[in-house]
Amino acid sequence: MTTCGAVDSAQWHALTQISGDWRARHIRDLDQSQRAGYTVTGAGISLDYSRQRVDDEILNKLVELAKVADVEGLRDAMFRGEHINTTENRSVLHTALRRPATDSVLVDGHNVIPDVHDVLRRMRQLADDIRSGAWVGHTGKRITHIVNIGIGGSDLGPVMAYEALRHFSDRTITCHFVSNVDSTDLAEVLRRIDLEQTLFIVASKTFTTQETMMNASSAREALFSALGTNAHAAVAKHFVAVSVNADKVAEFGIDTNHMFGFWDWVGGRYSMDSAIGLSTMIAIGPKNFDDMLAGFYAMDQHFQTAPLENNAPALLGLLGVWNRSFLNIPNVAVLPYDQYLKRFPAYLQQLIMESNGKSVNKDGKHLDINTGAMYWGEPGTNGQHSFYQMLHQGTSYIACDVIVAVKTFNPIGNHHEVLMSNALAQAGVFAFGRSAEELHEAGVDAELVPHKVMPGNRPTNVITVTQMDPFTLGALVALYEHMVFVQGVVWGINSFDQWGVELGKEMANKISRYLTNNESLAEFDAATARSIQWYRDNR
Ligand code: F6P
Repeated sequence: MTTCGAVDSAQWHALTQISGDWRARHIRDLDQSQRAGYTVTGAGISLDYSRQRVDDEILNKLVELAKVADVEGLRDAMFRGEHINTTENRSVLHTALRRPATDSVLVDGHNVIPDVHDVLRRMRQLADDIRSGAWVGHTGKRITHIVNIGIGGSDLGPVMAYEALRHFSDRTITCHFVSNVDSTDLAEVLRRIDLEQTLFIVASKTFTTQETMMNASSAREALFSALGTNAHAAVAKHFVAVSVNADKVAEFGIDTNHMFGFWDWVGGRYSMDSAIGLSTMIAIGPKNFDDMLAGFYAMDQHFQTAPLENNAPALLGLLGVWNRSFLNIPNVAVLPYDQYLKRFPAYLQQLIMESNGKSVNKDGKHLDINTGAMYWGEPGTNGQHSFYQMLHQGTSYIACDVIVAVKTFNPIGNHHEVLMSNALAQAGVFAFGRSAEELHEAGVDAELVPHKVMPGNRPTNVITVTQMDPFTLGALVALYEHMVFVQGVVWGINSFDQWGVELGKEMANKISRYLTNNESLAEFDAATARSIQWYRDNR
C-alpha cells in the first residue's frame, strides 16, 4: 500500500492496462442492463452516472483504488482535525463550520465548535439588525446596499450563493461584489449605491490581499467624501470585516467588535459557509443560512458513512479520476439547467482548479500522470447556443456535469418542461450521439450525413435536485468539496495549499514600483522589461 496516493499501486497499473481498450469503447456498446443501477443519492442529491464510460468492472477497480489510497482513513483524519494540509501544517476543517453546537472537534487539543457557533451567533445578530433596520448608517438611514469586498474564496462563494438563493433573499437589500483591483469594478458599484445606506464587508482571510485592501481603502475614501467626514464613527457604521487577522483589521480602522472571525483551518475556497458568507446571511436571513449549513452537514454525513460504492462524492471523484487520468479527458463542462446557478461554474473553477491543479504529490515528487481537470461552463440553455457545438462534434472529448432541478420557483407556462427536456436531450446526445445509420434511416440527405453525425461518448453525469433551496445548495457544494478531496487523495496531492498563486502576487508587487519610475529594468527577463518600458512610454 502506498502512503501518498494510489498512482504507484498495482490497482492503478491494472487500470492503466485496460484503459487503452476503454478509450476505443463506446457507451452505446456497453451492457445497458447494468447501468439502470448507476445512480446514487446522498443528502437529497441524485448522481446519475449511467452515461459514463464505465462498467461494473471499472467501478469496482476504481473503488479498490480509493481503498488503496486510504480515502476513508484520510477522510476521517480530515474530519478529526488532523494536519492533513502538510505543506502549511494545518488542519482542514471546513466541515466543522456546519456541525451542531453540541459536537466537539479538537484542533491541537482545543474544541473549535463553540467558537464556530459564537461567530454564527454574532453574524445572526448583525444580519437581523440590518434586515430589521435596527442598524442604521452614520446619517441615520437604513442599510439597503451590502458591498462585499473580497477576491477568490472571499468573493466567489458569496457571489454564487447570492445568485443561487435570490428566491430566498430580502429584495429590499441589494448585495454587490467588488473583487478586481481594476478600478472599474469598484467604480461601477459606487455608481449603483447610496453610500449613506451602504455597509461594506471587507472579506479577506489574511487581510493583506492587495486587491481587497486597495478596494477597501478606496471605498473608505469614497465614503468619507460622500459623508463629508473621516470620523471613526462613520467607519463603525459602514464597515465590518471578515478575517482571521485581527491586527490588520484594527490597523485598517475597523473596530474588532465588528470583525467576524474564522480560522486558518478554513481554506479560502472552502469558506462560503464561514463568516465569509455574511453577505449571504444578510441577503437570505439567518434561518435560511442555517438550512444551507444543514445541507452541507447532511452531505458531510453521507460522505462519512456511505460505503464507497454508494457514496456520491466518492463516485463523482473516482469517475473524474478515470476520465482525467485514464481516458485522458482534460475538460469538464459544468452545465446547470437552473438560472439561479449561473455563477456555479465560476465557483467550481476555484474550488477544483486551485485545489487539484497540481503536478507534485504530497511527498514533493513530480507526478507523471494527468491530474485535476479544467472546469468551466454556463447555464443551459444559453451554453447550447454557444460552445455546445464543440462539446458535440469537436475533436477533444469534454466530460459534462448536467445539473437539473425538478421544480422551479418561477413557473411560467411550460418553460420548465422545455428547460428539462433540453437538459435531458443534451445529456442523451453527449453520451449516445447520433450515428450515420440513424441519420440515413431518418432520410437525411446523404451529403449532409457526415456533418450531422454526433459521435457521442462524452462521459456525462446528470445531477438532479428537487429544487435549488438553501439546504440543497449546501449539499451540492459539499458534494463537490468532497469530490475534490477524494481525487486529491487518489492522486496523492495536497488539495489545500495554493503555492502556484503566490509567486504571481510577489512578482506583481515587485513590478508595480517599476511602472512609474525610470529605474533600470536589468533584473527582469527581457520580455517583462520590454512590457514595462512600453507601459512607461505609453501611459
Ligand atoms: O488566490 C489565492 C488566494 O489565496 C485564494 O486561495 C483566496 O481565496 C484568495 O487568495 C483571497 O485571499 P484572502 O481571503 O486572504 O484575501
